[in-house]
Amino acid sequence: MTENVNTPHIAPHGAEIAETILLPGDPLRAKFIADTYLQNVVQFNTVRNMFGFTGDYKGSRISVMGTGMGIPSASLYAHELIHSFGVKNLIRIGTCGGLSTNLDLFDIVVASAASTDSNFLHHYKLPGTYAPTASWPLLSAVAKEAKTQNLTLNVGNVLSSDVFYRADPSDAQKWADMGVLAVEMETAGIYSVAAAAGVQALSVFTVSDHLFKGVETTADERQTAFTGMMELVLPVAASL
Ligand code: HPA
Repeated sequence: MTENVNTPHIAPHGAEIAETILLPGDPLRAKFIADTYLQNVVQFNTVRNMFGFTGDYKGSRISVMGTGMGIPSASLYAHELIHSFGVKNLIRIGTCGGLSTNLDLFDIVVASAASTDSNFLHHYKLPGTYAPTASWPLLSAVAKEAKTQNLTLNVGNVLSSDVFYRADPSDAQKWADMGVLAVEMETAGIYSVAAAAGVQALSVFTVSDHLFKGVETTADERQTAFTGMMELVLPVAASL
């Protein structure tokens, strides 16, 4: 979209934002992706250092922008990208903490759904409990690409939590007992904002730590795992 629209948090001043956007939490990751994988790059946002870029990947225009951490931050960027800039496909790429004992560091998790301990969903005033869900076209495309690349995906429910440092560590076990695979902090917000607008969203993660196995990754290891996840998601983004 090239119209000269600016919002409180995204000010492209006419620079293009593509219909498909990759959303890492960290704005420097967005810069890394643009520098490493995209050609003919334009930067469309610097507001609050939440860098956003648009460029070419294998003949398709793709954008990439940081979301910050947590549902309030990620969901406001998702809202503005969709409602003011015409974004149609939102793909979060991030890290998660493993809850399932079947998960190991660097495994890839895809959120078919996102449970939450956040109050964000209450603002929709629904007469029941909403289940934030991935878009099947994106999920099925990622599953197909993973098969082509011989990668194993762990597809299931994740917890989008407002809390990183828990007062009661037994909370995490309760989510694990319900079959929730992993914890992160944004997806329930992004999925519900996308669903309310009738657009597509998907979250893909690598496991950066495990809540019960007491293991963590180094920054270098996370970078390598991140590269594998990008090479899974980029061909999908380019095909939309
Ligand atoms: N908790 C919440 N979010 C996360 C974690 C975690 O352990 N790891 C990566 N993102």
